[in-house]
Amino acid sequence: MSQVAETATPTEDDATYDGLRLRGVTKSFGSFNAVTDLDLDIPRGSFFALLGPSGCGKTTTLRMVAGLETPTAGTITLAGQDITYARPYRRPVNTVFQNYALFPHLDIFENVAFGLKRRKVKGIEEKVREMLDLVELDTQARKRPAQLSGGQQQRVALARALINEPEVLLLDEPLGALDLKLRRAMQIELKRIQTDVGLTFVHVTHDQEEAMTMADTVAVMNLGVIEQMGAPQDLYENPETTFVANFLGQSNLIEGAIKSRSADIVVADMNGIDVSIPAGRSHTDGDRGWIGIRPEKVLIGDPGEQLDAPGNSVPGGVVTDVSFVGVSTQYLVRMPWGQELQVFQQNTGHRRLYRTGESVDLSWRPEYAFLLDISQDASAGADQVDD
Ligand SMILES: Nc1ncnc2c1ncn2[C@@H]1O[C@H](COP(=O)(O)OP(=O)(O)O)[C@@H](O)[C@H]1O
Ligand SMILES: [Mg+2]
Repeated sequence: MSQVAETATPTEDDATYDGLRLRGVTKSFGSFNAVTDLDLDIPRGSFFALLGPSGCGKTTTLRMVAGLETPTAGTITLAGQDITYARPYRRPVNTVFQNYALFPHLDIFENVAFGLKRRKVKGIEEKVREMLDLVELDTQARKRPAQLSGGQQQRVALARALINEPEVLLLDEPLGALDLKLRRAMQIELKRIQTDVGLTFVHVTHDQEEAMTMADTVAVMNLGVIEQMGAPQDLYENPETTFVANFLGQSNLIEGAIKSRSADIVVADMNGIDVSIPAGRSHTDGDRGWIGIRPEKVLIGDPGEQLDAPGNSVPGGVVTDVSFVGVSTQYLVRMPWGQELQVFQQNTGHRRLYRTGESVDLSWRPEYAFLLDISQDASAGADQVDD
């Protein structure tokens, strides 16, 4: 199945970079590119998340780093070493999969000790104890996997990988088999463990909340390419593509015609209303664009009410749907141009609740708006089903 790969010589720069680096990595299966010309720099010791919908090429990327798949083109270096074609067991890399197949007939201690015993390492007892301590399973050492909960089994799998002291730990949807509550708890746990051991974690997930909760850096992947990469908050606050705007949380995207551009501000005509967008949040040079605003940044009020100055004021809305979700109330508001906008209002108790059919004005601060390329599909990334 592996194809003849293009020879690529790492540059000098690659030889001194101490993290994990992918350069121009492509993986084709026949005529289909699962991963296309991927460039990634993953700093040593960071918690890095590769986030994207099912089928976008995440697992293929991890398998190339692990050596289970040979790139069709490109190079992979780790701490300056070219590992593109190194055999899997020669790489200082370990993987934790969603189906963390533990040895059912061995107890937890023996499961964790397995790799070390095979390599005849010294001081196994102490190392295993240390690992079980780290994942808080020191009291469970003599139980069998079947006697543990899903979350505990996942921690055993983690300990089993970490005990080999890899430079990089690859995690492929490791929490996918756990229910929501346990998954949230394990996210915090995993992050704590990563901070404790200081290893590079490359975590693959299709769950945007999971990626944002845990990672220092998130790379959003779509159709085999990286759409945008950065700190979770930066990606969320200033998305550069419609896919990122929709896949990471939710966004209102409203068509606008650009009226003027200055060094700081872009002014757009949004269906007859002037709205402004900071130049640093404008990601298109076109004469039209998608004006983007997150639902929780939109304020809702009575017609004519002064909402938040200085804001972009958008009058003439009618509430078409109200969902009370506890921490917030989520409104759909139909605007004069026919589009329904989403508005999330925190339930602080300071604002009144609106009912379906009521007339309202909307408003948002210009600094929260962003502007995207009109040629992109406004619903890209919005219809991804969570599995
Ligand atoms: N061995 C293979 N042969 C053919 N196609 C494959 C193979 N492995 C993965 N693919 C295809 O490559 C794409 C990316 O797969 P994958 O990396 O598993 O995505 P993800 O992990 O993001 O869900 C998918 O369309 C998948 O069907
Ligand atoms: Mg996968």
